[in-house]
Order: sequence, then structure tokens, then C-alpha cells
Amino acid sequence: MAKILIRGGKPLNGSIKVSGAKNAALPVMAATLLSTEPVILKNVPDLNDVNTMARVLQALGVKWSKIGSGEYSFDASGDISEEAPYELVKTMRASFFVMGPLLARLKKVRVPLPGGCAIGVRPVNIHLKGFEALGAKVSIEGGCAVAVADRLIGNKIMLDFPSVGATENLMMAAALAEGNSSIENAAQEPEIVDLANFLNAIGAKITGAGSPVIKIEGVERLGGAHYSIIPDRIEAGTFMVLGAIGGGTVKVEKCEPEHQHALINKLREMGAKLEIHSDMVEVSALDGLKGVEVKTLPFPGFPTDMQAQLMVAMCVARGTSSITETIFENRFMHVSELARMGANVNTHDRTALIHGVELLKGAPVSATDLRAGAAMVLAGLIAEGRTEISQVYHIDRGYEDLVGRLKKIGADIERIEDPEIDE
Ligand code: EPZ
Repeated sequence: MAKILIRGGKPLNGSIKVSGAKNAALPVMAATLLSTEPVILKNVPDLNDVNTMARVLQALGVKWSKIGSGEYSFDASGDISEEAPYELVKTMRASFFVMGPLLARLKKVRVPLPGGCAIGVRPVNIHLKGFEALGAKVSIEGGCAVAVADRLIGNKIMLDFPSVGATENLMMAAALAEGNSSIENAAQEPEIVDLANFLNAIGAKITGAGSPVIKIEGVERLGGAHYSIIPDRIEAGTFMVLGAIGGGTVKVEKCEPEHQHALINKLREMGAKLEIHSDMVEVSALDGLKGVEVKTLPFPGFPTDMQAQLMVAMCVARGTSSITETIFENRFMHVSELARMGANVNTHDRTALIHGVELLKGAPVSATDLRAGAAMVLAGLIAEGRTEISQVYHIDRGYEDLVGRLKKIGADIERIEDPEIDE
């Protein structure tokens, strides 16, 4: 239905504001199911995924309304259904985050298993094993994960992998369990800390979020709160890469530099100049960039969600770079799209080898998933000539008004709404 059209090569200069974090807003919205009093969330990004989560919550019985820019109220004090709607869950796997709170509140829950997606199979076995550790009986029925428990009893939960979603789902389930729980080998992402801070704001007793061991002391009930979502570190990182390749200086505002150490270090290693302020990072690389090696890892390692975007910088860096993607099994779909623009990238298993070229050339390309789509926008902005990006609905899931914000720093970019274009 829509395409993004870019005429590349314009030097990009100016300030760009970062929105609230999609991957914090989604679990925090799911956590409002635990509250028996109204909750106000601020700095919520205006994204398709946020709208989908709001519709899932509404279908479950949560009353919500948008009360201002980025501000929403949620009221889950009424009757709540134990079954999440398949039609909505299948469109966004993050809907699976409702399973933990529904199990905690209702002691029975039925959530459609989220399908895989372009970047991988994305199973939920770690989530389900954790629910069993808390005393739930878990089964798969008709494509749904079903969990039932007389009581949820606090326990020690060891994660086979520091899964972000499993850590979040299990923190929410354990918050109302009887007794104490610990999640070991927990994910340490800033979004985990944001969810723990929100849960504590509504009365939970959680310590250790952001470390590999999270401790949760179960409580009887959870109330209301006013809470503001952290800045989106992946959106901020996307704009930092743009500062390093855009031929000018980009000030990334309303970000949290503390969440960006791995990326900041890599960009500096490539030769970019980054000035760090309390909530702003100024990025340029007027002498160009040199190739580096990167391996994606759980936080605080280099984030998989920044892999496609950094690859664009590597495509035009001097020398050879490599990226090893250790988190998802199929997250190199942007490679073939970049090759259409003249990039020199070869992949073997989970490693991509990138040989820098002088210049990328504009071409018609596709957004194959959310972060790959963002990478294609970056590539189009620095390429010579015209780039047309299709399937931009992927980008709309995670970037609010990307075209409008890029125009403000000098990009020759526009969005074409064309009903004739099949997705
Ligand atoms: C979250 O997904 C993010 N999404 C992803 O961002 C991000 O890439 C990912 O964390 C890793 O940082 C949201 O927060 C909404 P995982 P999640 O569970 O929770 C395997 C974006 O672009 N695994 O940490 O699904 C899984 O297959 C998105 O914003 C199991 O095997 O990620 C994957 O290989 C993309 N069993 C790895 O762990 C499980 O039960 C990491 O998955 C769960 C996960």
C-alpha cells in the first residue's frame, strides 16, 4: 500500500528526536493486565505494534484510551478474559507477553502460539518451562499454549537462554505468585529493567533486573501508577549509524547513552566521532569509516536489532568487515537487498563478510523485516540516485514518522501511498 522514495547522497545534518521504546512499551502494556487500578503510561511510541497490543488488551477486557501525545490510560479492574484472540496474536508475536500476567491473575490462560517470522522460528519453550516451574500445568491445544494452576508458587527458574520475552513473561507471572522466585540466566536488556521498574511502581517487589539473576517476592495484588517508557535504544542506534554515514553531523536527542555502549564503541572503532551528552549523542564521520568485526550477543553485547543497520555502514567502510549473528538463525535477509544496491556481502551460515565499496547505487528494494527495512532506508539515504522501498509496513511497526523526521535533517525522502501497490 505504501512505498518510500529516496533520492540519496544529500548530506544529513541536524537533530532527530528518539521516541519511546517499542520493546519496553509492549511488555509494560501487557503488564497493565496485573493492575486492579488505572494505569497511565507516557512516552509510548505511536506505532502499529502498540496499536495491535492495545487491541489485544481491549479484546481481553482492558479499557484503554489515548489521553495525549504518547500518553495512554489503561483500566484492567473489570472482568478479564483468559483467552487472547488468534486474529490479533498472529499479527504480532509480542502479544504472547499477555500469557504471564493472565496466568498470574486468572490462574488459567489460553494464548495462540505466535508464529515464527522472517528472522527465525522463534519458539516459546523457555516461557512455557518457566510457567511449569511456577506450578502451572502447560499444554498445547489447537495451536494455543494453555496454562492452568490452582496456585502459582514461587520457585527458582533457570533459563536455557537469556530470552528477553521469557524473562519478561516470567517476571510478570512471578509478581503475583505465593512466595519468592528467582530467574537465573535472565536477559539484561534495558527493556527488562523498564518492565521491572513499572512492576515495582504498581507494587511488585523485584530486585536484580539488569543482572543475570532477578529476584521476585510475590505479592497479593498490584495497583495503579503513572509511568514513562524509556527511550528506544534501537531507534537511537539507527540514527547514530546515520550520523556516521550521512556525510554530516546528526544529533540524536532524547536518547539514553547508557543503553548504547556496545554500538558507541563499535562506531568509534570504525572511526566515527561521537560526543556523548546526558540525553543526546552527536555523531559524524567526516573522514569516512574503516571495517570492523562484530558478533551479536545478548545485552550488554552488540544488539541483534542493530545488525542490519551497522551492516550498511560496513558496506561503505574501507576494507573488510564481518558480522556474526548469534541470536537469530535467519537474520541476513537484508544482504540480498543491499546487493541490489551494489554492496559486496557474502554470507556463510551465521557470518556475513562485507567488503567495503566506494558508493551504493539506488535501486528498487524491499523491507524484509522491521530492522532490515530501517537498514534499507539508511542505504537509500547514502546511495547515489533513486531508491524505492516497498513493504514499508514492516518499518511502520517500529519507527514513528520516520520519513517526517528524516526530512528535517535534509533527506530527500517521501512516502507514496499507492492503493495499487500489492504488499
Ligand atoms: C525480543 O524478542 C525483541 N522483541 C526482539 O526485537 C529482539 O531481537 C530480541 O528480543 C532479542 O534481543 C520484543 O521485545 C518485542 P528472545 P524475543 O526471546 O523476546 C530463542 C525488533 O526488531 N528462544 O530473546 O522474541 C529465539 O528463537 C524485535 O524489535 C527460544 O529458543 O527474543 C531466539 O533465537 C526483533 N525459546 C533467541 O532465543 C524461547 O522460549 C532470542 O529470543 C524464547 C526464545
